[in-house]
Amino acid sequence: MSPVLEIADLKRIARRRVPKLFFDYADSGSWTESTYAANEADFRDIKLRQRVAVDMTNRSVATKMIGRDVSLPIALAPTGLCGMQRADGEILAAQAAEELVIPFTLSTMSICSIEDVAEHTKAPFWFQLYVMRDKDFVRSLIDRARTAGCSALVLTLDLQILGQRHKDLRNGLTAPPRLTPKHLWQMATSPVWVAAMAKTQRRTFRNIVGHAKGVSDMSALHSWTAEQFDPQLSWSDVEWIKDYWGGPLILKGILDPEDARMAINTGADAIIVSNHGGRQLDGAASSIRVLPEIVEAVGDKIEIHFDGGIRSGQDILKAKCLGAKGAYVGRPYLYGLGAFGKDGVHKMYDILKTELDITMALCGERDIENMGRHNLYSVFGEKV
Ligand code: FNR
Repeated sequence: MSPVLEIADLKRIARRRVPKLFFDYADSGSWTESTYAANEADFRDIKLRQRVAVDMTNRSVATKMIGRDVSLPIALAPTGLCGMQRADGEILAAQAAEELVIPFTLSTMSICSIEDVAEHTKAPFWFQLYVMRDKDFVRSLIDRARTAGCSALVLTLDLQILGQRHKDLRNGLTAPPRLTPKHLWQMATSPVWVAAMAKTQRRTFRNIVGHAKGVSDMSALHSWTAEQFDPQLSWSDVEWIKDYWGGPLILKGILDPEDARMAINTGADAIIVSNHGGRQLDGAASSIRVLPEIVEAVGDKIEIHFDGGIRSGQDILKAKCLGAKGAYVGRPYLYGLGAFGKDGVHKMYDILKTELDITMALCGERDIENMGRHNLYSVFGEKV
């Protein structure tokens, strides 16, 4: 087998090991996928400034995200159906994150539940909340996250209405999956995935089934999910959720300076500049392209996090240089899980860390905290 050297290698192996409908679910964006593609491509339009003849010993890539020590400025992003990339994927990823000293964020739409992850980890993880129409259910999710010891709530604001992903429709991926002979064939030809799946009972949306009103089994889940995302979500919802939760709050899905200003008014602790990995508004600007204007608008008033298109340690550094305190990775760790389970998440981390560390050194820096715009040569064609 050829060596695993970069995130693209994990992706290649995951593509072979994960049934097509689930691999495509991770590897898709909405409609034409132009925003998904731009998230990755736009990083190439940021050039680093090389420095020489400076002491590059004793380097540090550790920092903090909302006051929490992190060994690298990354967190694992919330991803729905993570446990379909590899059985018990959320538990494996949360355990890896604990071992690596980075935050793990559990999605509302995860396979393993809040309680499943809490039972198998010691470090507090973060919980991502979607605002549903059923406010009692939203409150019960917050209660459960609090009871499980979650140390931050990540509130996603960019999914009031679900973006359409052509690959999922073509593959017949519904929630929950309704298995056709084509799907069974895809699974039968994915023996590593099947072997792991055969060992677990956690195969449905366990935050929801058995918890939401009227959703006692898989068959009730489909229509419930379709109706639940709240198209009336407003800033006042953010405020009552903040009050009800009472702990650190991170607002996810900010792509406009005006929304960033609104976010500050809610008293949130951080925002994530994000377009949902290009899965919602196709045609929106890439996250990295809007990061500078959001930093300019609110960077001195709130901690800014970033996600979308991080595929290397260099990308993390570029986001950091442009003002992000840390970056979330979504697909890179899903590819790691699909390829090698928990070891794959470790591999992803090692790849990103090595790339980041070497790049930092070649930029003439020893401490990631000191990196900023002065380490960039140009941003989208404009010299810094
Ligand atoms: C996501 N994302 C996401 N976001 C969220 O708030 N709740 C969720 O349940 C999901 N689900 C989800 C599933 C899959 C398969 C992907 C790829 C993404 C978005 C995610 O948190 C993050 O914003 C992006 O993944 C970041 O982009 P990259 O790192 O995947 O390029």
